[in-house]
Amino acid sequence: MRRIIITALLSALFVFNGIADEGMWLPMLVGKNIKEMQRMGFKLTADDIYSVNQSSLKDAIVQFGGGCTAELISAEGLLITNHHCGFSQIQAHSSVDHDYLTNGFWAMSRQEELPNPGLTVRFLVRMEDVTALVLTGVTPEMKESDRQSKLSDNIRELSKKVEAEGVGYKAVVRPMYYGNEYYLFLYEEFSDVRLVGAPPVSIGKFGGDTDNWVWPRHTGDFSMFRIYADKDNKPAPYSASNVPYKPKKHLPISMKGIQEDDFTLVYGFPGRTQQFITSHAVEMLINQSNPHKINLRNTRLSIFNHYSEANDTIRIQYASKHARVANAWKKWIGETIGLRRLDAVAKKRELENMFTAWASKSPELQNKYGDLMPTFKRLYNELTPLSLIVDYRNEAVYAVELVDFASRFDRVIAEAVKPNRDNEAFEIAKNKLVTYARRFYKDFNINVDVEVFAAMLKAYHEQIPAGYQPEFLGNLHQSCQGNWLQLAGEFYSQSVFADSVRVFTLLNDLDSTSARHFQADNIYGVYAQFENQYIDKVESRYYQISDSLNILYRTYVGGLMRMQADKRFFPDANSTMRFTYGRVGGFEPKDGVVYSHYTTLDGIIEKSTQANVPDYVPPVKLIDLYQKKDFGQYAVNGTVPVAFIGTNHTTGGNSGSPVIDANGNLIGVNFDRCWESTMSDVMFDPNYCRNIALDIRYALFVIDKFAGAGHLLNEMSIVR
Ligand code: ARG
Ligand code: GLU
Repeated sequence: MRRIIITALLSALFVFNGIADEGMWLPMLVGKNIKEMQRMGFKLTADDIYSVNQSSLKDAIVQFGGGCTAELISAEGLLITNHHCGFSQIQAHSSVDHDYLTNGFWAMSRQEELPNPGLTVRFLVRMEDVTALVLTGVTPEMKESDRQSKLSDNIRELSKKVEAEGVGYKAVVRPMYYGNEYYLFLYEEFSDVRLVGAPPVSIGKFGGDTDNWVWPRHTGDFSMFRIYADKDNKPAPYSASNVPYKPKKHLPISMKGIQEDDFTLVYGFPGRTQQFITSHAVEMLINQSNPHKINLRNTRLSIFNHYSEANDTIRIQYASKHARVANAWKKWIGETIGLRRLDAVAKKRELENMFTAWASKSPELQNKYGDLMPTFKRLYNELTPLSLIVDYRNEAVYAVELVDFASRFDRVIAEAVKPNRDNEAFEIAKNKLVTYARRFYKDFNINVDVEVFAAMLKAYHEQIPAGYQPEFLGNLHQSCQGNWLQLAGEFYSQSVFADSVRVFTLLNDLDSTSARHFQADNIYGVYAQFENQYIDKVESRYYQISDSLNILYRTYVGGLMRMQADKRFFPDANSTMRFTYGRVGGFEPKDGVVYSHYTTLDGIIEKSTQANVPDYVPPVKLIDLYQKKDFGQYAVNGTVPVAFIGTNHTTGGNSGSPVIDANGNLIGVNFDRCWESTMSDVMFDPNYCRNIALDIRYALFVIDKFAGAGHLLNEMSIVR
């Protein structure tokens, strides 16, 4: 009953204010939202979220390594992000002797913190609407390619100017609303970022792929790093003499805990959403792209599983590949179900019909927008079959590890057979390839790949219209009479790429003769023939259509903003800094099921009693703490809180983002979305969309009671 009343009250609010939870807002424009946020309980001001004159929350948040978010939690440069965001760094420092993945890693002093070559973090110095500047010299009559080159020139000049303002400054100009607006983001980038701590995977990845995208969740998905700077607190390459960075701001950590309906702010770097795509695009997505890509990955994953179950070496070799393939696969399944449940195609059509009706109201509108919908339809009709080929290129052809590997020899072969080659470029490319090859073979199993090759070629042959198949595929099908596996075996037994020793020998003294061994190889041939027919028949047309669609979307979204002049729009996520606000809250994923808004340590123990689920095996020490109820100051009602969900609109890239309470304190670290919400990249539904966050108290408990790294808490600002 209470839930019904609250829901009714909330929906009444939505009617007046728009849907509060939807939206990934640009920090600079927080003025549009701040009143609503304050009505929802937020106690801070617009300047506390984003300001260029005083320190603000943005100064405590960084883009981490390009694909994630992290936040500062001490005055000495200490960062927290997800375990899965720091995974490759933790893995890189791990060996059989120091298995930090299995055992965790904790620097007990600053000297023990581990540098990570290649890892960078960036702060947003400021953002600016630079639409007028970027569009200088651009005219409506211009050809799209001329427009693009004019834009690039303007952007290059602008970036050069602002990057000169400070050490380590990097400028990025991004289009918003398909190029109706342009924003400059000026970042300060640090490259000395050291690993401070990580729990064992049995905590940091507890639940693994079994629980990925799923609520209820019990993953202690966090790791810690520290930013180092030179003695002037400026970015500098790694040096032993660098010192911990002193941030303008760090987030205080709240031990007060969360209650249902509490205000939440998530602030970070969401990667990509497509809220404006038309009904035609949604149809293509749920009727074609997703089903085909899901099927291809089903096949690949079942081959991985089959071998991993029988062989531990293969299981370890394919663990990270499996996780990567399974992550998007599971998301696409959820997304397709979610978009169907929402009847997204019909909803999009409704909006498009409204748009067409609106556009018929004046000759000016008619002239500008009248043709849009028929043109969208025509272009998507043409794009759909080509898009299938592109999907099979990515998800079938390049899914074969050896084919993908062979494709990477392209440049080196081209240089090697050139009569007058650039020796320096050649050596660099060759050395890169050798490094890549070492990593590749370490985790490559030929039996697995032979099966993948057979299955992918078969799928391509069966699903792709004959006109788009490379000729050799039909010939192969005839000659092997459908026995793709046998054929695959023969192919691999004849390929140089299947023999790592020969590959390294050939690479070692590579000249035009040995390069021809690679070029004449049958697996290289498979790659080359797929690629050639893609270039001949698909690529240029595909990109022409995509460019035309981009122009259409620019016009369409511009038109929508005119039609709904009172609506608050937000641009699609594009890896730029955004904030999103909502509330802590559970939901009803299906009839008869109610999800509560939080999980606890009890759930970890409960899951661990299920036999034979390797993803559900917590460390002995954690079980021990649980049995002794040794929870210290982290005990809440006889257990320890682990994770919670909220109504914040998030996507990939928001991993590691701080979840901030009404007073500006850190209460959680975002790491996933519920499976029922994954359609929110295309269409948000407040009834189903929930982000998943680690409860910060669980992180503190693990650091302090589990790992004995309580000294790290001394530098944090903890609010009780
Ligand atoms: N689904 C989350 C994200 O999209 C977590 C992925 C990593 N975890 C995993 N079990 N594979 O990044
Ligand atoms: N795990 C995702 C990430 O790495 C966040 C989940 C989502 O897509 O919302 O960013």
